[in-house]
Amino acid sequence: MSSRLSPIDTAKFVAAKRACDFVEDGMRVGLGTGSTAAWLVRCLGEMVTEDGLRITGVPTSARTAELARRVGIKVVSLDEAKWLDVTIDGADEFDGELNLIKGGGGALLQEKIVATASDKMVVIADQTKQVQCLGAFPLPLEVVPFGWRTTKALVEETLAALDVLGDHGTLRQMGDAPYVTDEGNYILDLHLKRIGDARQLALVINQIPGVVENGLFIDICDIVVIGHGDGRVEVKDVNTGVTREDRIEFMENDNLFRDLGD
Ligand code: A5P
Repeated sequence: MSSRLSPIDTAKFVAAKRACDFVEDGMRVGLGTGSTAAWLVRCLGEMVTEDGLRITGVPTSARTAELARRVGIKVVSLDEAKWLDVTIDGADEFDGELNLIKGGGGALLQEKIVATASDKMVVIADQTKQVQCLGAFPLPLEVVPFGWRTTKALVEETLAALDVLGDHGTLRQMGDAPYVTDEGNYILDLHLKRIGDARQLALVINQIPGVVENGLFIDICDIVVIGHGDGRVEVKDVNTGVTREDRIEFMENDNLFRDLGD
């Protein structure tokens, strides 16, 4: 077992490692964004370069595309791939029905498009992402920059009538400027504290002009792989209701664990 990795990184790593079991030779694979997904991309890269695995990757952000290329994964656009066998991605929160909040890393739009265009979505997460009820993590909302203050006011007004505990949004910043997504949009982080009806919220909020997409993934995720700091992994399948648990034993090797600056 690792001595250099922190428990949280061990949890992310073992979840990513176990999720590689869902990838087979010849598959078209959606590659998520975030620190957990970065472990997945590294693991798949190692399987490509060391074991001769042949896959085509469709990244969900410019930074994932760059990492994937660096570790040796062939990268194409979603339009080139057309449809994917599996997408593996992280999450900010997931509930018992495997509904998700995503977008903490700002890539929710591509992530939702890519996951929806896949036969299967597998979420990889450390155990801290599991919640009874979604909403403690601020819900990211991608909005067009034009008139974003008006959009924000309309969003907050709409939220006041929904089953949530908070209705305040903040514009995501990067330094002194608004954070800009890969599509050139802004992100509003909605501080809802508790989302009573995530399905309704996801539908209603997308009707507001100026809203591009929300970070709720409802009925999209099929499987979650939950990593623990001691190397244990749980694999929960929402379709079969089956949960399996085992442990990943691993040795840190210089290739997989070298600093790629991701
Ligand atoms: C990226 O936009 C997000 O949806 C990420 O998948 C999510 O924020 C999880 O990221 P971490 O794996 O870094 O926690």
